[in-house]
Amino acid sequence: MIRNNICLNSHAEGCAAVVRRQIAYVENNNVYEKPPNAAKLALVLGCSTGYGLASRIALGFGYGAATVGVSLEKPAAPNKNGTPGFYNNLAFDYECAKVGIISKTLNGDAFSDAVKALTIEAVKEIAEKLESCTQKIDMVVYSLASPVRVDPKSGVMYKSVIKPIGTAFSGTSIDIMTGRLFTANAEPASKEETAATVKVMGGADWELWIDALQNTGLLAENAKTIAYTYIGPESSWAIYKNGTIGRAKEDLERACRAINAGFAGSERKAYVSVNKALVTRASAVIPVIPLYVSCLFKVMKEKGLHEGCIEQAVRLFRERIYSVDGITLTDHAGRIRIDDYEMREDVQKAAADLMQSVTQENVLSSTDVSGFKHDFLEAHGFDVQGVDYED
Ligand SMILES: NC(=O)c1ccc[n+]([C@@H]2O[C@H](COP(=O)([O-])OP(=O)(O)OC[C@H]3O[C@@H](n4cnc5c(N)ncnc54)[C@H](O)[C@@H]3O)[C@@H](O)[C@H]2O)c1
Repeated sequence: MIRNNICLNSHAEGCAAVVRRQIAYVENNNVYEKPPNAAKLALVLGCSTGYGLASRIALGFGYGAATVGVSLEKPAAPNKNGTPGFYNNLAFDYECAKVGIISKTLNGDAFSDAVKALTIEAVKEIAEKLESCTQKIDMVVYSLASPVRVDPKSGVMYKSVIKPIGTAFSGTSIDIMTGRLFTANAEPASKEETAATVKVMGGADWELWIDALQNTGLLAENAKTIAYTYIGPESSWAIYKNGTIGRAKEDLERACRAINAGFAGSERKAYVSVNKALVTRASAVIPVIPLYVSCLFKVMKEKGLHEGCIEQAVRLFRERIYSVDGITLTDHAGRIRIDDYEMREDVQKAAADLMQSVTQENVLSSTDVSGFKHDFLEAHGFDVQGVDYED
């Protein structure tokens, strides 16, 4: 049941199979040195799908970290499927229990004070189960992607929009199920819409989480925290980087600097990581991104550079945050770049050329729409190898 690149149902066994495959990837690539400061107790906000789920799997199965995860998913009801993240969480906790990795998952609104308080209790409970029962949170992954946020202080509900700022936007997008190209139009955002998007997808809530953990004495002296952003090619900037979402991501970077200022004098460190464009439930609804990603995947697969969420997460922790030499490589603005393969000059040029040459006639053969469609279906538990859908 797919409408406008939004999938309305999910498949429990398919979701579990994808979680198991990501775990297997981590286990099969687990033959590297792990520095002593690697995560032992991690909090993953937005743990159920996409980058958050992959981060949790990389931390749990790559480093043996105990994890507390928070996400907002609809549980299954007798006559209705749950959302994919609901099944992913169940599968993650089940696989952890099988091998003795400690995990606890909370379902609720991470923006609320109530869920922050419940999470803090869960962290204390988990810490008591660890070998070193004085262990505090040493990694906080902030990977929320949400259309709405209720400000916990004012009670006002803000809605995020994906719109350009200043001038209207028009660009070619694609219906991933049919391959039909269409022109996506978006009117410029009002000042209120831009401000609301910053409220939802900016860094304010990340700061509140870090404050809450610090105030309750639960943040380790060497804690690291990371939030995710995207920059992408110039062809998407009008709608992404220079649009409402881009403003929110600027605010995320502001929050990162503010958190680091608060960490001054300790070994704690906050990072923003620029990740690769991938097919997640959030990215499929951004105009232009599905067509760009279909071209990008074609190029990256041909060059042997393609990665999914789990490959990105493993590289992020192994080669950046917990690198053996202890150095976390960053760009001029202090950001981690694991979009480095995507942004390579040859990759960008080939993807841009391909986008220029796409027509309705050649779109299915010249781009990787089928790869996009597969990843999209897989994110909901469908089209997963080895799963019997007739059963
Ligand atoms: N997908 C991409 O291509 C891409 C690229 C670079 C960066 N990013 C960034 O990565 C981050 C995660 O995005 P994603 O694509 O993995 O998204 P996603 O939709 O797969 O995951 C979002 C997560 O947030 C959770 N969530 C949403 N609202 C919540 C709430 N109120 N309370 C608790 N949990 C809530 C969901 O349950 C889910 O776990 C975002 O900051 C996004 O901008 C994404």
